Amino acid sequence: MILENLKEAPKDPILSLSAACRLDENPNKVDLGIGVYRDERGITPVMEAIKLAEAKLLQEQSTKAYVGLAGNEAFNTSMIELMLGDSRSKERAVGVQTPGASGALRMLADVIKSSAPDATVWLSDLSYANHAPIMWTAGLKVRYYPYFDTTTKLVQTDAMMDSLKEAGTNDVVLLHGCCHNPTGADLSFEAWKTITDMAIQQGFLPFIDIAYQGFGDGMEEDVKGFRYLADRVESYVLTGSCSKNFGLYRERAGIAVVAAKTIEQSNRIKTRILEAARSTYTMPPDHGAELVNIILNNPLLKSNWLNEVETMRLRVEGLRSKLASALRDKSGTSHYDFIAQHKGMFSVLGLSVEDAHILREKQSIYLVDSGRINIAGMQESQIDYIAESLLSL
Ligand SMILES: Cc1ncc(COP(=O)(O)O)c(C=O)c1O
Repeated sequence: MILENLKEAPKDPILSLSAACRLDENPNKVDLGIGVYRDERGITPVMEAIKLAEAKLLQEQSTKAYVGLAGNEAFNTSMIELMLGDSRSKERAVGVQTPGASGALRMLADVIKSSAPDATVWLSDLSYANHAPIMWTAGLKVRYYPYFDTTTKLVQTDAMMDSLKEAGTNDVVLLHGCCHNPTGADLSFEAWKTITDMAIQQGFLPFIDIAYQGFGDGMEEDVKGFRYLADRVESYVLTGSCSKNFGLYRERAGIAVVAAKTIEQSNRIKTRILEAARSTYTMPPDHGAELVNIILNNPLLKSNWLNEVETMRLRVEGLRSKLASALRDKSGTSHYDFIAQHKGMFSVLGLSVEDAHILREKQSIYLVDSGRINIAGMQESQIDYIAESLLSL
């Protein structure tokens, strides 16, 4: 009988970790697993600008009728403006709203599969846990390029570029725009320049994933490397997420962008994304996207929002430097100084799977097996406990 043969799917490693932490009765427990920002009260707040935009939406929205397959087109234009800014490639870029950047990753993967059935997507080693499953599910092959140097805890740029010399016209190279997940180690501007030259010479398709704009060095600074590349390569694809920088996690607001050689070609590719969307979810949810659109087109709300993102960014930066200095003081070494150099919400600490299990079982500190910790989920009051637990390993 259909369905009877199905075994239970493996549990999602990150979501099941959060569930285990919730059940843990240790008052000192620390959830460093799931990638959400928490403020000094331990809350993932609804941003003030979102609250104001919601009030406006409630008052002004006159219909809940369907939007088109591309979702909220005003949102698409506003997000392209936010991510591309003064990039010349904006003139040939088109966007499709998707259910989160996850939806965008999948729609673009489907379109790549239609265009090049044998294409290989190169991912950084390590990468976002869902990158490979999305590409595989779309039928694409996945290869990894060296990225995270487990000794320095920074990007091993030479090894990365050396490996990517093999990427050619049937390859897609996926790059994190900023705030690399899970490692926290970002490409330097010089590395962006090198990869740009390689894309031009070797003809691979750059696929940029921007999920944390504003969480690294600032809203504009975080996309400097991406914009450099965007202005020079013939074509690229891009995904954007509003989960973190608008705090809209559950509203599922994201975007898939394509910039081909000409706007006509980009528009043709857009019709293929719409075709893929039609047979998957048809239309993305509108609520989150409309809030983003309201904020980005209202100078006062936009300035409130930018201030709120900056507050979050500075808080995460502060937590990084406090954890690094607690570890320096307690260990008398500079072994963990890299934590302060990493960008965005996460850092990979170079712990083994066993270390992660010991921390979970003995100290009730929950982190994923890759040794990634969510810095943005920490409380200042937990820093000493976390530092001492790490040093006890
Ligand atoms: C690198 C990266 N890309 C994409 C996503 C998916 O984000 P969304 O919530 O918009 O689907 C995430 C979420 O954590 C991420 O870290």
